[in-house]
Amino acid sequence: MPRVYVVGSLNIDSVVEVERHPLPGETLMGGDVATFFGGKGANQAVAAAAAGAEVFFIGRVGDDSGGHDYIARLTERGIDAAGVTVTTGSTTGHAMIALDARAENTIIVSPGANARLALADLGPLEAMQPGDVLLAPLESGLDVIAEAARIARSRGARVVLNLAPFAELPAEVLAFADPVVVNEHEAQQLEQSGATPPSLLVTLGAAGSSWGSIEVQAARVEHVVDTTGAGDSYCGTLAAGLAAGMDAHAAMQAASDAAGRAVSWVGAQQD
Ligand code: RIB
Repeated sequence: MPRVYVVGSLNIDSVVEVERHPLPGETLMGGDVATFFGGKGANQAVAAAAAGAEVFFIGRVGDDSGGHDYIARLTERGIDAAGVTVTTGSTTGHAMIALDARAENTIIVSPGANARLALADLGPLEAMQPGDVLLAPLESGLDVIAEAARIARSRGARVVLNLAPFAELPAEVLAFADPVVVNEHEAQQLEQSGATPPSLLVTLGAAGSSWGSIEVQAARVEHVVDTTGAGDSYCGTLAAGLAAGMDAHAAMQAASDAAGRAVSWVGAQQD
């Protein structure tokens, strides 16, 4: 069975509910702090596994309780965490998330061990085969992500890149990603950068998603609780669908449905 290899970040998310987001220089009172597993890479891996994919994860955590708990969590979810390195002298990545009354968030990421992901960690990608999918967001070093994409490509695997948070990657890498996935804001940043990936999938929140001439509507959601991780659910489910041999429309539809479900719980991953 084709596998999804995720190269990416693992964070512990601290979420505080606020009525509205603070202005620069302003102090606001919020609710209690709630802690969740997060990080775009791990969120996407969990979503891909939930969608039925066999998932192998490459990333780094600190030698702390968050890091060890995270490896146990991935393993419980059926994800092969043999590529997760416990990094002494680093803390596990941490994200501070403010969630407002309209279910919109702001996120500040302290990368911790994610920033130590290295080219030497990519060895397991040499086992990739045609049909496998590499999925990578951009919370890790860009040189490592670009090299992961090149290795996957050289093994005949499919490369799916999620430019979140937005950063510029070499044009040669964007050229073989199929697709590059961006949300509306990242699409604007991509355009401003002058890059024009030939295979571009844009997620548009409630307005659905488009990939070239293929358009898929967003799932109907009655009550949005928290949008954190919805894009990750989309990417992980999309990669799982493509690895399972779905056509683009079917994979996008499954991804859209998963993203619709993901806004119904607080936190980036389903419990
Ligand atoms: O996409 C949502 C994720 O972004 C959160 O889980 C947080 O950790 C940041 O990486």
